Amino acid sequence: MASISPDVSSRLKPDAIAVIKLIYEDVCNLQPGSNVLIIADARTPDYIVAAFQGMALALSAEAVTIECRIPVGGATYQPGSKWPKMLEAAAKEADLIVDMAVGYAEFIVEAVKNGARVMCPGDGIGGPFMDDMLIRTMLHTDIHAVRRHADRIAQRFTEASTCTVITGDDELVIDLTDVEGASGCGFLWDADKQDWKANWTFLPPAQPGILVPKGRGSGSINVDGTLLYHPNYHEKPDSPLRLTFSDGHLEGIAGDRILAARLENWLSELGDEGAYYGPVHLNFGNNPNAVLSQSQEWERVYGSITCGMGDFSLLGGLIPGISSAILNKSTVHWDWTVLQPKILLDDKVISENGKIFA
Ligand SMILES: [Fe+2]
Repeated sequence: MASISPDVSSRLKPDAIAVIKLIYEDVCNLQPGSNVLIIADARTPDYIVAAFQGMALALSAEAVTIECRIPVGGATYQPGSKWPKMLEAAAKEADLIVDMAVGYAEFIVEAVKNGARVMCPGDGIGGPFMDDMLIRTMLHTDIHAVRRHADRIAQRFTEASTCTVITGDDELVIDLTDVEGASGCGFLWDADKQDWKANWTFLPPAQPGILVPKGRGSGSINVDGTLLYHPNYHEKPDSPLRLTFSDGHLEGIAGDRILAARLENWLSELGDEGAYYGPVHLNFGNNPNAVLSQSQEWERVYGSITCGMGDFSLLGGLIPGISSAILNKSTVHWDWTVLQPKILLDDKVISENGKIFA
């Protein structure tokens, strides 16, 4: 699968207005009089930020935009980033936060506990082609079919007791005892049930899967999709990167010579033992129009899986029913993607050769 350069425009695409309206209405169920806080930084073109603010105003909400400095490093460093008190104060007043800058942060967790809902159009990471990505993966995709499919996949995880990921001759096995599937469907509002579905979500849809308690996951895996780590949004290995785990701890890095050395150097220089723990999450991608761009849409490439490493204690605080005490802590969160693994839930194949059977 080739890495794809998306359509980077220098003007507002009229279709961006349509997809932002769809997001506010179908994903967020935005009501007149709501307080919308839009958090952005200079990574996202100002006409996209303005379109989010303008559409919220057009739907009779109050809408304020705050632009922050670009956080140091890439998304990897979100768990350890510091944010100004001014931003925390504004977040306390919000009913809906449109986050194009922050991602994982303590003040976002506090805002959710305070009753806010959070929608991240690009996983809390701004980008120059967010409009193209949202048009392609949401306006030109049946997002409600993706949502229902994500719910079915999550249910399969809930029913299973073991997950086995097979790549070539390697197997990675994760114990699913007392682990529930999470739909990660990309919706705050469920239009079928006419009820709230989540208080925090990433776009585009969807990434159904599991949060993995610390200490689980043994075996090896060949990573052929992407690696998100310092300071890249992602890097694609020329040949598979082979990672070996024992009881949820990364023990070996081999395979792609250049990337293996870079990853090993970065981890050893971090001085953060928590960064070696994982997988902390395992999620399917099931969006037919997601591609391997430098947007987090790569986590939604159909038939792929993305696993996270390092911190998941902050995110765990945003998902009900899961104690953050069983989730790993670190100053970083990094990810790897396998494009078309064979996956068994107990003894049943749920995914193979880019197809998902759910
Ligand atoms: Fe992740």
